[in-house]
Amino acid sequence: MIPSSPLPRPLVLLLPSSCSPLAVAGSPGNTPPPPPKKEPTTPKPQPTMTFQQLAKTRYSVRSYSSEPIAEEQLNYILECARIAPSAVNFQPWHFYIARSADALDKVRQTYPRSWFATAPLVIVGCIRHDQSWHRPTDQKDHGDIDLAIATEHICLAAAEQGLGTCWVCNFDAQLCHQLLCLPPNEEAAVLIPIGHLAPDAAPRPTTRKPLTEIVTDL
Ligand SMILES: Cc1cc2nc3c(=O)[nH]c(=O)nc-3n(C[C@H](O)[C@H](O)[C@H](O)COP(=O)(O)O)c2cc1C
Repeated sequence: MIPSSPLPRPLVLLLPSSCSPLAVAGSPGNTPPPPPKKEPTTPKPQPTMTFQQLAKTRYSVRSYSSEPIAEEQLNYILECARIAPSAVNFQPWHFYIARSADALDKVRQTYPRSWFATAPLVIVGCIRHDQSWHRPTDQKDHGDIDLAIATEHICLAAAEQGLGTCWVCNFDAQLCHQLLCLPPNEEAAVLIPIGHLAPDAAPRPTTRKPLTEIVTDL
């Protein structure tokens, strides 16, 4: 079952201190008494969600409030994209942030849907085809796969932050390229609207195929 909105509170992982006090050598007579033992001030890491819970929490959000995205949250989300794996670690991607009225207007023209226009920020995910890994045996370009991984990192990181996203590939990619004046080596491959959920945001009923249908033991 996919839980309904709102998305959960941010998950905070606190790292325990890796340093423990060193033992003090010498006789007790000429050394100062050891400082009183302090109770640890940092709580143990308490993940509030497992990865599976987070993955089940994310859904395609198609109704956003106008509340802007905090810079810290955006940076957190982009950092999660940055550390995504890629073939041969080529990182053949570039992310454009549309949040000014002008940029949003251009991006919205490429996917004219009323729900999409409610998002206060859209990330345009681009593949740099001249930087992607092409498998030597058949020249398969892995840029799509690489960008897809980074994109899902963005969606999951946003969900963890309590924000909504939606993959959008059914946009006019050529128009997007033209309106945003993208360089020739870049392909606009996905739009990712990000925002706080509007009060009426709710997942559409979706199902997934059972494992028995999609997994085969060899
Ligand atoms: C590659 C890809 C492209 C998608 N393109 C669109 C799109 O253009 N418009 C849209 O409304 N949803 C789009 N989606 C969202 C899917 O419709 C959605 O993920 C799917 O129905 C499952 O629903 P859920 O995300 O709520 O679990 C896309 C998803 C993926 C992974």
